[in-house]
Amino acid sequence: MSGATGDAPYVRAMESADLPRVSAIFKSAFNEMYRRRGFGPVVADQSVGAAIAGAYRSHDPEHCLVVARGDRVVGSGFLHVRGATAGAGPITIDPAQQGSGCGRVLMEEICARADRDGVRSLRLIQDAFNEVSFCLYGRVGFVGRETLVRGGFPIRPDLGVRSLARRASRRDGIDAIVALERDLIGFDRARDYDLLGRMGEIFVLPDGAGVRGSLVRMVRGGVAVLGPIVSRDLDGALDLIQAAGADLPLRTEFRLLIPATRSDLLSACYDAGFEVHSLCTYMVRGAFEPFRAYYLPTLFPESG
Ligand SMILES: CC(C)(COP(=O)(O)OP(=O)(O)OC[C@H]1O[C@@H](n2cnc3c(N)ncnc32)[C@H](O)[C@@H]1OP(=O)(O)O)[C@@H](O)C(=O)NCCC(=O)NCCS
Repeated sequence: MSGATGDAPYVRAMESADLPRVSAIFKSAFNEMYRRRGFGPVVADQSVGAAIAGAYRSHDPEHCLVVARGDRVVGSGFLHVRGATAGAGPITIDPAQQGSGCGRVLMEEICARADRDGVRSLRLIQDAFNEVSFCLYGRVGFVGRETLVRGGFPIRPDLGVRSLARRASRRDGIDAIVALERDLIGFDRARDYDLLGRMGEIFVLPDGAGVRGSLVRMVRGGVAVLGPIVSRDLDGALDLIQAAGADLPLRTEFRLLIPATRSDLLSACYDAGFEVHSLCTYMVRGAFEPFRAYYLPTLFPESG
């Protein structure tokens, strides 16, 4: 970790006293970045950043970081190590301090920590219209590997599949889902599924004693965020998405990130009313093999 010298930015561990400033920066950094590019605000109030930082401080306490100048916090970032793979994010710098090297110092520390922990493949998701974050991540070794199409459905899309997916029961456990992810996408993240099971609902496609697909749904105030979704095949992915809408009020909106290379999934979703908001880039520093599955990542937790 870097130390304080004059006004130069340095990185240190996040403390609970930093949370009000971290959440204020989270809100202003994202809303300002979206505003500059013609979008409306995406972070309604400071409670969003506080909730994310609070959740990560208990979920991944080793790598919750702030970047500071003197005694003033100017940004924050998070690293989520899961064995040989890891995720980074969210990363935010105070708009008044952007463009002066704070993001670079923070990202260099995150990469150094991942290297020290033996991570071979570090991943993140950035908004493709944000040329600054794309360049910053590229400068520290990330490569754009996939385009993610970010958008939403009106609820209960008719995707024309038989519904075999169902809400996971206690009996299903999460071991089968963790084993499926390990096999198809190389992540080993039981701790994330524990958290997701507490914060949202998990759907599965049963397959003998195991599962051949799973989906996580988080419903908050009229919006149902879907992901991670993992499925061995197209029908499984469609089935899971369809099943996740069956019991929700009609005013609910689905939101998800669909890999552009899965054009069959995209096209089935367009036919059912999928409307695109924007594009994101899935960036990887280090090893990467294209996924052997239909994998739809999510922005929480950002572990892959
Ligand atoms: C993205 C963000 C974290 C970057 O932080 P920052 O402190 O402004 O970044 P820095 O000034 O340290 O570094 C930016 C780098 O990108 C480069 N860069 C920026 N725009 C560029 C462009 N158009 N072309 C080429 N390089 C560019 C800069 O030269 C710099 O590279 P360098 O370190 O080699 O000089 C910050 O702008 C932010 O908080 N944005 C809003 C929230 C957000 O989008 N977060 C990312 C979520 S994935």
